[in-house]
Amino acid sequence: MGLMEQVKAKAKKCIKKIVLPEGDEPRTVQAAAILQSEKIAIPVLLGEPSKIKAVAQEVKADIAGIEIIDPKNSPKAPAYANSLYEIRKAKGVTEEAAAKLVEDPMYYGIMMVKLNDADGLVSGAVHTTGDMLRPALQIIKTKPGIKVVSSSFLMDCPNKKLGHNGLLVYSDCVVVPCPTAEELAHIAISAADTARTLCDIEEPKVALLSFSTKGSAKHELVSKVQEATRIAHELAPNLALDGELQLDAAIVPEVGASKAKGSSVAGYANVLVYPDLQAGNISYKITQRIAGADAFAVLQGLAKPCNDLSRGCSVDDIVTTVALTAVQAQGC
Ligand code: ACO
Repeated sequence: MGLMEQVKAKAKKCIKKIVLPEGDEPRTVQAAAILQSEKIAIPVLLGEPSKIKAVAQEVKADIAGIEIIDPKNSPKAPAYANSLYEIRKAKGVTEEAAAKLVEDPMYYGIMMVKLNDADGLVSGAVHTTGDMLRPALQIIKTKPGIKVVSSSFLMDCPNKKLGHNGLLVYSDCVVVPCPTAEELAHIAISAADTARTLCDIEEPKVALLSFSTKGSAKHELVSKVQEATRIAHELAPNLALDGELQLDAAIVPEVGASKAKGSSVAGYANVLVYPDLQAGNISYKITQRIAGADAFAVLQGLAKPCNDLSRGCSVDDIVTTVALTAVQAQGC
């Protein structure tokens, strides 16, 4: 069974309610119909009911029985606005502004998740990453003990000798442009958690990557990764984690054995933590485009799962992202 079949099977075992704020977007409507018929999740579509129904008819999607909520006419809107006001008043959000914000499906959906009316949210077929992320960061916030929201890419590589039967978790490739050492440590711990939850990797082996292995180069960028490794060890002493390691020392057993003797991670890493967003983002695209790996993105470190889509996503990508979100919600 491939990774996504596993994830879908897991999602079906304890079905979760996932809100889709871009409810009148044709691919989203088609995905909602599949999610319902295959019992992967309980989808909720946000938007104007007549418009959503017209789209469903146009794309021949059977959405009978799927809950549709119009944020502009919802009886829950005043309670959501009040709660949003309480959460954001210290940041200058007024009661009037909060009432206006919850009319926006993105904010309405985030408030559903915040107030436990949905277990998770998937958006981004229309919105940019920033537009999707900002309300989640402001309102859902981080999990207890985690300082920063970040992301992981689940890379399913054709070479099954790599990582965990060809599976590697790359982090962070989407969110934090230039993490501090402390943030990098939190990203590493979150990525290990993602590997356990979504890839069934019971014992993640986490490598903090650099252009240096164990002091082979001296530079402030290397020092940051060394410091992040020290902090991560302190925060998660039982996690198999090592750094700083070059990529080959992290994933090639012979190189790991020669460059990082005695390391329980070197040569066998299945979670790769990049020193910054440029390195992470470029690496996942190289692995996808040149090595032919399948890549699946999730956000990690949020108190409740919310995930972003690429604007070029397919119906299947939306179904997959909802399944990943539903499995993350099982662990919340
Ligand atoms: N974790 C937790 N909280 C955060 C984080 C984070 N990583 N980043 C920002 N916040 C919080 C801030 O503390 C702030 O909270 P507050 O309002 O309660 O004080 C709130 O979120 C908003 O912060 P801003 O700094 O105003 O948000 P910003 O406009 O910088 O946006 C964002 C944050 C969107 C995550 C930004 O860092 C970003 O654009 N990252 C890169 C996204 C991107 O373009 N990725 C690559 C493309 S995607 C792809 O290739 C698949």
